[in-house]
Amino acid sequence: MTNAPMIDVREATKKYDDGPPALAGVNLSVASGDCVAILGHSGSGKSTLLNLIAGLDKPSSGSVTVDGTRVDQLGEAGSAKYRRASIGMIFQFFNLLDDLTVLDNVMVPAQLAGMGKGEAKRRAVELLGSLGIERHVKAYPQRLSGGERQRVAVARALMNKPALLLADEPTGALDSSSVEDVRRLLLDLNAEGQTIVLVTHDVQLAATTAHRTIELVDGAVARDVVNSGSGAGLAAAQARR
Ligand SMILES: Nc1ncnc2c1ncn2[C@@H]1O[C@H](COP(=O)(O)OP(=O)(O)OP(=O)(O)O)[C@@H](O)[C@H]1O
Ligand SMILES: [Mg+2]
Repeated sequence: MTNAPMIDVREATKKYDDGPPALAGVNLSVASGDCVAILGHSGSGKSTLLNLIAGLDKPSSGSVTVDGTRVDQLGEAGSAKYRRASIGMIFQFFNLLDDLTVLDNVMVPAQLAGMGKGEAKRRAVELLGSLGIERHVKAYPQRLSGGERQRVAVARALMNKPALLLADEPTGALDSSSVEDVRRLLLDLNAEGQTIVLVTHDVQLAATTAHRTIELVDGAVARDVVNSGSGAGLAAAQARR
């Protein structure tokens, strides 16, 4: 294992024209193979931080390095390429395309990255199978339950084998049994070595999924604790190396 962290955010600030800064000097280092939860009240800067890590937005000052790339210094094309190659994203409301089938939704990122159609299809079917939704490959997302849709979104996020999986409130729109499905899915992925950043309001979800919980208050890190007895993925990942 290399010693360089997967994510290294240094003194990151984000200011908009009006109001207090959305981020006010955030330092965050996440090891490869870790699963970190980011908690905080509405407006505390969680999505802003995730967007900086994803290269969807730039900090007003400070640096954002992911897997050795200075993400804050990328131009528009470089940043799109970085996202395709290195980042998988899951959102609260799935963001699936309603007029594409489940299979075609999952294949989109691979096709954007230039993977051949046959290979993309094989990988998508395999992923959907491993997530237990292979029987829905030809369905349209609207016919699926919330938990099933979120599993499709997870398959899509994993399509290009991202170094980093970012999830912004992935269980916010789900009932409790679907929350448990997604939680187990994230635990399994992390146990296989996937680095995950999970943004959530759900303290329980954070404590039982992540190895570490970071709390943002007014755009700054107020707390950074290791969760005992849960999210053992990092230890497992490191033991295998
Ligand atoms: N494009 C924007 N223009 C101006 N202000 C913004 C913009 N995006 C976010 N903000 C502000 O930055 C702050 C942090 O927003 P952010 O979306 O990161 O919060 P959050 O912690 O994700 O909240 P929630 O839990 O409600 O999703 C908020 O005060 C928000 O109003
Ligand atoms: Mg948010």
